Amino acid sequence: MASVIRSDQIGEFVGQEVTIRGWVYNRTHKGKLVFLLVRDGFGFVQCVLFKNDVSPETFEAATRVPQESSVVITGKVRADPRAPGMPGGFEIGVTDFEIVQALEEDYPISLKEHGIEFLLDRRHLWIRSQSQWAVLRIRATVVKAIREWLDDHGFLNIDTPILTPAAGEGTTTLFKVNYFGDSTFLAQTGQLYNEANIFAFNRVYCFGPTFRAEKSKTRRHLTEFWMVEPEMAFCDLDALMEIEEQFVSYIVRRVLAERAVELAFLGRDTSVLEKVVPPFPRISYDEALEILAEIRANMDDQDLRAQLEITWGDDFGSPHETELTKRFEKPVFVYGYPTIAKAFYMEPWPGRPDVSKSVDLLAPEGYGEIIGGSERISDPDLLLERIHAHNLPEEAFSWYIDLRKYGSVPHSGFGMGVERTVTWICGIDHLRETIAYPRMLNRVYP
Ligand code: 4AD
Ligand code: MG
Repeated sequence: MASVIRSDQIGEFVGQEVTIRGWVYNRTHKGKLVFLLVRDGFGFVQCVLFKNDVSPETFEAATRVPQESSVVITGKVRADPRAPGMPGGFEIGVTDFEIVQALEEDYPISLKEHGIEFLLDRRHLWIRSQSQWAVLRIRATVVKAIREWLDDHGFLNIDTPILTPAAGEGTTTLFKVNYFGDSTFLAQTGQLYNEANIFAFNRVYCFGPTFRAEKSKTRRHLTEFWMVEPEMAFCDLDALMEIEEQFVSYIVRRVLAERAVELAFLGRDTSVLEKVVPPFPRISYDEALEILAEIRANMDDQDLRAQLEITWGDDFGSPHETELTKRFEKPVFVYGYPTIAKAFYMEPWPGRPDVSKSVDLLAPEGYGEIIGGSERISDPDLLLERIHAHNLPEEAFSWYIDLRKYGSVPHSGFGMGVERTVTWICGIDHLRETIAYPRMLNRVYP
């Protein structure tokens, strides 16, 4: 009996009889030949039925088998550089073909173009499509690389709670949860708990879903997204940037090495990704404003000019990040944002209290922010002052203030959004395709 194989290992079985179990992705019929593009979850492989090699009933069944029918196929593996599929270059000359279930109604997602809302309503089926399969496999590699790099560099994974009593990143995007009559919130960040954890473990990270009641409908915002947040004791802003550039470069390198087939399918220009090696350019917020002023001055598009207007103290919006990062080939650090544009916990710049020791990492080619981070306030009095200035309830932060009383040290950390990172690495337009079941302003189904 032929052994059942995974289609991603087909290259190891040239000349041998194998069985694959999967679903019919596409079918074409030319005279005495039926070509089935079969997906088994591990890849897509072309299976060719020649009329003379199988029984008349089998051949007949193959000519009519509907898209997405489940099948078990046996045959001999041949190398053929023209064979389509992922990885491609191999095909199966079919000797036996069995249908597990033939569809009785048409599969809703045909191989023609569909509108985005139609596809999102059928996300549970859409993930079977080649492009979605490729993106989600790249995501899995990004997640694996994140853990590999951190685990290999002394970071301990300590996950933080999702139900939290305090706001970490501003009070406007909180999801409130009724907790037996008390109100709690879904976590916007695990950072504050990470800060407690570094005093026990020095270098830590949390990695999980994060929630923000974002009312914005942009290609960069989800209401539920995954964030990895490393935090380090005895670490200043410069050391933070060095860690970030090593970390991001490693992730890109792993994807290039492990997901070449998927990147090729997506048409990603990998020569751009090859350039993602340290050091990354570093510019201050003030310098970024100068670059933006220059971009505006040389711009004909009046609408975009208006959108790019910015005064010192404003945070960047999507248009600013897009225009700025189109000018860079590598991810770029923007550091030293105005204190008023950022969260309450950031250490002030020495001698410039209106500037914070913050740094965002913006992905090139117009993608924009993928990482936000900073040095944290280490002085208990200053921290308390900031909590009051931001109208945050002191009681909810009492444990957080404790951390500055018992062995306070300079410390820093950052948060990287998985979906934004995957969007950039894949070179796609919108982050909704980078998570299996996206949650957005108007969507929680399926
Ligand atoms: O810049 P943010 O808000 O930073 C923090 O939450 C810090 N507490 C992180 C830290 O220092 N530990 O968010 C960090 C990253 C962003 O750069 C972005 O990649 C992602 O999280 N992010 C989102 N991704 C998708 N949808 C949203 N609504 C996002 N909001 C933030
Ligand atoms: Mg940010």
